[in-house]
Amino acid sequence: MKSKVIGRAPINIALIKYWGKKDEIEVIPFQPSISLSLDVFESETTITKTKNDKFEFFLNGKENFEESQKIKKFLNYFSDDLNGVKVESKNTGPTAAGLASSASGFAALAITANRFFEKKFNLEKLATITRKGSGSAIRSLLPGCVKWNSDGSLSKLTWPFNDIRVGISIISDKKKQIGSTKAMATSVKTSKIYNDWINQSFIDAELFEFYKNKKDFSSLGELFEKNALLMHKVCELSNPKIQYLTSKSYELIRLIQNSRKKGIFEAFVTMDAGPNVKIITKEKNINTISELLISKGYNVLWSNIDTEGAKIIYESES
Ligand code: DP6
Repeated sequence: MKSKVIGRAPINIALIKYWGKKDEIEVIPFQPSISLSLDVFESETTITKTKNDKFEFFLNGKENFEESQKIKKFLNYFSDDLNGVKVESKNTGPTAAGLASSASGFAALAITANRFFEKKFNLEKLATITRKGSGSAIRSLLPGCVKWNSDGSLSKLTWPFNDIRVGISIISDKKKQIGSTKAMATSVKTSKIYNDWINQSFIDAELFEFYKNKKDFSSLGELFEKNALLMHKVCELSNPKIQYLTSKSYELIRLIQNSRKKGIFEAFVTMDAGPNVKIITKEKNINTISELLISKGYNVLWSNIDTEGAKIIYESES
């Protein structure tokens, strides 16, 4: 065991979405998903050996008893003895507002624990553990464009563009009303279009790779925007209805779509388990989009694609 290790991991935004587990224990998805790791809103995890015999978990500077059991259970994949272990996790973005903070959080925790407890698990093994913390966290282990396959494995994809930026517009940074784990289980059981969604996801993942490799951003954008909207339709057709997008989210989606149709700029949207809207476009459009959004009362924060993935940034020996 080391005396202190600090690790970081990026958030990731899925362009082809994961929404449903075919194995809830092993966390194997019903469908492949594809994401971009982003260089804003990372998580940083510090694990320290303390002199007391307690296990302690701090989230954003405050001791967190609510999540402590889940963190402990996760760390048991690395060690049975967690006495005298202190975990501090910091997110630089809003936690649990659909901004993938649990994804970056569990990826950072996995990579840091692997070094702290000196397990030396390879990426494949680390990935099988990471997804048990949160499915989408598996994709935050790697930089750039990442695919989580429907057999549960992880693949690094090429990303041939060097001028794509992702804008995040925060509609609300409040904690979501229904967490993704519970919501997707409800969708699997009750959504009227769940089977269609699985079938479409496989087609979308294949087409995504096809358009990406052809560097056809227009077809790629149309595809991933439709994929996100279909996931929200799956949610809205669940029983009880799961409504993540608000009227303000839909207004912003329409603003982007209409500007695109009028030829003002080419940008596409994607949304996760929360009301926030992410805008994907080429670098040359970001000033025009920012001005338009601000004039309509929306904020936007532009991100680049993360090039580092999950990694250790500090360690000291006992
Ligand atoms: C909408 O990874 O948060 O962001 O595996 O239950 O922790 P659990 O769910 P989570 O779900 C993320 C769903 C999504 C789409 C995506 O990231 O692919």
